[in-house]
Amino acid sequence: MTLPPLTLYLAAPRGFCAGVDRAIKIVEMALEKWGAPVFVRHEIVHNKFVVDGLRAKGAVFVEELDDCPDDRPVIFSAHGVPKAIPAEAARRMMIHVDATCPLVTKVHSEAARHHEAGLQMVMIGHAGHPETLGTMGQLPEGEVLLVETAEDVAGLQPRDPGKLAFITQTTLSVDDTAGIVAALKQRFPAIIGPAREDICYATTNRQAAVKAVAPKIDALLVIGAPNSSNSRRLVEVGRAAGCSYAQLVQRAGDIDWRALDGIRAVGVTAGASAPEVLVDEVIDAFRARFDVTVEMVETAIETIEFKVPRLLREPA
Ligand code: F3S
Repeated sequence: MTLPPLTLYLAAPRGFCAGVDRAIKIVEMALEKWGAPVFVRHEIVHNKFVVDGLRAKGAVFVEELDDCPDDRPVIFSAHGVPKAIPAEAARRMMIHVDATCPLVTKVHSEAARHHEAGLQMVMIGHAGHPETLGTMGQLPEGEVLLVETAEDVAGLQPRDPGKLAFITQTTLSVDDTAGIVAALKQRFPAIIGPAREDICYATTNRQAAVKAVAPKIDALLVIGAPNSSNSRRLVEVGRAAGCSYAQLVQRAGDIDWRALDGIRAVGVTAGASAPEVLVDEVIDAFRARFDVTVEMVETAIETIEFKVPRLLREPA
């Protein structure tokens, strides 16, 4: 049987970032060092495949510190945690390891620095996302005001409009955030912020790669989890760049083949918490149905690596 021709454009960079890679390594090294079970507060990264794999090795995922026993190690996820959580783990004399991405920790430090200087913070982020909760939880209640959209800026009621600074979630849309920052600067001309927002290199690079792929394709598949902020942003970026069909899929089994009927050029990318093995699975699924040509569209080369915490590098 002759298969119809189809070109797969693989966006690069895609998939694991340095923070996700480090967080997974932390759980694996903790299991090696202390044996199972090791408790992990919240999904270590937002990907079911990764979480299931670690669970099979002995990690136990819980949502609250109260669900962990005092005598087993606990790891905090890559998204970061409110300050009260490690303080509580220390009070209970638990072994605790913080897998917060160093680029999220950097935002926590920025918030603390501005707070010490007497500024109230505005955080651009998604309500309820663990990173937003963790970053807002670095400061006392009421010290961080949240905005999700440019429209939210009009409703802000700061203590002193002349004493404000902003920070952002690391996984936002670069373009949408620029609009929110512009609205903040227009309403509060004295507001202080980071030079290039806090959106991390991995988020920025994955969005830029999708924009480069978009003109070549009829459809875009983003491999990632529904609760992965950076993956969802990649779908939005694809749509904004002109892909009328851009879908999030967790694995090859989620692909809606009927929607791809007649399509001859498909873009594939993966969120920062999606492993490359799932990209390979998607490529194989296309190969079973089409005569596939694979082309890479590379817009950046990433070499960043983060060290794991010293506690895990020391012998038990
Ligand atoms: Fe860190 Fe950015 Fe990845 S903040 S966890 S490098 S998506």
